[in-house]
Amino acid sequence: MDLSTTYLGFELPNPLIPGAGPLADDLDTVRRLEDAGAAAIVMRSLFEEQIAFEETATFALTEAHGYSHGEAGSYFPSPDAFALGPNDYLEHVRRIKETVGVPVIGSLSGVTPGGWLRYARLIEDAGADALELNVYALATDATEDARTLEDRTIEMVREVRNTVRIPLAVKLSPFYTSFANFAHRLDQTGPAGLVLFNRFWQPGIDVEELEVRRELHLSDSSELPLRLRWLAILSGTEQATLAATGGVHTALDVIQAVMAGAHAVQMVSALLRHGPDYLAVVRREIVQWLEEHEYGSLREMRGNMSLRSCPDPQAYERANYMLMLQSWKPANGA
Ligand SMILES: Cc1cc2nc3c(=O)[nH]c(=O)nc-3n(C[C@H](O)[C@H](O)[C@H](O)COP(=O)(O)O)c2cc1C
Repeated sequence: MDLSTTYLGFELPNPLIPGAGPLADDLDTVRRLEDAGAAAIVMRSLFEEQIAFEETATFALTEAHGYSHGEAGSYFPSPDAFALGPNDYLEHVRRIKETVGVPVIGSLSGVTPGGWLRYARLIEDAGADALELNVYALATDATEDARTLEDRTIEMVREVRNTVRIPLAVKLSPFYTSFANFAHRLDQTGPAGLVLFNRFWQPGIDVEELEVRRELHLSDSSELPLRLRWLAILSGTEQATLAATGGVHTALDVIQAVMAGAHAVQMVSALLRHGPDYLAVVRREIVQWLEEHEYGSLREMRGNMSLRSCPDPQAYERANYMLMLQSWKPANGA
């Protein structure tokens, strides 16, 4: 069965990619992921704050009066909080490249254009085949309007585009007032891929300790539909290839994402939960499903349920919202 796909300009044997996270930290896991059929591997992110912290600390060390940015520095997470420091990160890119043959995608995460983005070039020089830029930002400043925030993100993407020769993917959150418009503006800056969507960690409150709880729950398939809707809406409208991230756990999840228009799917929670070899199970089940449903290839069905191709485009739009609210019935008929 032909599962091949094109993502970020790479011809990949299948669309399954372990997404950004701890999976690529360990070389043995990286090897197992490749053996299980991973088509490419995304590394965890190097964060703007890490790079800024290191630069501030280096500056402080070279100043006779020592580190005088205590207050500014205090809201940066301590460098120990990160699995890999900036230099270790570059070294790890090299090590992964020596370990596997599949494309290795480095990742940067930040919110402002500026000096830290030179790490895009350093990651490229370290051997990464592509770069994913995670633009996770929380719009908490009431004085800053949406356009300003979006313009800043676009400037950042443009800066990276001008810095590196390797393909660039932009990983987005869904929280934009006019997502389709923003995605389109981003697409015009020429990234090779858009990755939908960042998963936002929602805070809980520990009412006894009066603390904000920081807990990372792995996802499940219920997070996929948000991605399906926007993949379906963007499919066929933008130049960039599309990847789904968030809620991809089973072969049927992958098939839905591809039908909505995804060129690739990224998996993290499922592989953390079941181990790297689980990727081979999903791959096998996709093949089985395609055979049972008499598809000749995965490409054949890509986007067949996109907004432009599906028999009921209203299903992705406001009409569906109204119909769903009207059609709800209690399960027991009461
Ligand atoms: C433990 C953990 C660490 C993660 N670290 C990163 C990261 O460094 N950069 C990033 O862009 N996303 C990171 N993510 C988000 C994942 O790449 C992915 O987008 C998200 O988990 C949704 O996919 P999933 O449902 O397959 O887990 C992380 C996720 C987990 C669970």
